[in-house]
Amino acid sequence: DLASVAPTLVARTDLAPGIVELEVRAPLVARAARAGQFVRVLPQPDGELVPLTLADWDATAGTVTLVVQGVGTSTAGLVATAVGAALAGVAGPLGCPSRVERHDDDTTVVLVAGGLGLPPAYPIAREHLRAGNHVTLVAGFRDAAHVFWDRPDERVALLGAGAPGRFDVVWATDDGSAGVAGPVTGPLEGVLEAARTGSGRRVAEVVTVGPPRMMRAVADLTRRYGAPCVASLNSVMVDGTGMCGACMVPVVVDGVRERRHACIDGPEMDAHAVDWDRYLPRFGQWREQERRSAVAHGL
Ligand code: FES
Repeated sequence: DLASVAPTLVARTDLAPGIVELEVRAPLVARAARAGQFVRVLPQPDGELVPLTLADWDATAGTVTLVVQGVGTSTAGLVATAVGAALAGVAGPLGCPSRVERHDDDTTVVLVAGGLGLPPAYPIAREHLRAGNHVTLVAGFRDAAHVFWDRPDERVALLGAGAPGRFDVVWATDDGSAGVAGPVTGPLEGVLEAARTGSGRRVAEVVTVGPPRMMRAVADLTRRYGAPCVASLNSVMVDGTGMCGACMVPVVVDGVRERRHACIDGPEMDAHAVDWDRYLPRFGQWREQERRSAVAHGL
């Protein structure tokens, strides 16, 4: 009876300072998972739900892969979980799967991922490659110490293997200690400019996942070039099922202001419809509570 299997941490890999890859036994979630979806993880019965976008899953092994950075009380607890320990709950998959369509042969789908945005971008890139699309991945990090999955035997290098689509990757770091120096918008502008002048592939769409300010910069840049852009939004979430309103995203559709739930309408949304000026401040709304919780837990 798979429904009665307790979610258990079966493997744990340190990827970068404070960032771990967790493999969690959750057979029903693994069986239903699709690219772009997320789960709610409850580390302890009295903890809070942590929304995490799926980095990978294995329906045969009954496991899902999550990449976590210990930034607050709950994520720090998750990062410190020992292999073999049970988690109080893993619910999902939640949210709408990524929309993956077959695009023309002379185009590319550009995935722009920043830091912890790389794990959610990975299965989306894989779906596009399986569909036969050309994929360009721009993966940006703070510095070389925070880069992960970049070795020849790791996920990103293996992405193109056996898939009908072809794959290019550009690594970037803010300080230039690995790959191209500067933010992800630099390589992205190179791709958009090559498409504009006809010296490179046309851009079918841009999908961005990462820190909110980075996604805003990607939205602004793609708007200037007239390229469609989707952002996978990592709103603050509470229930993750459309009831609490914590994840609200202000959008403007046909000149009309509306609000969407990142948890059930997203997490992916038209990045050009998001009202970033009103959305970005929402990420700081619990800062004082987070600070007090960190102090109370000795972090
Ligand atoms: Fe509660 Fe989306 S997280 S409505």
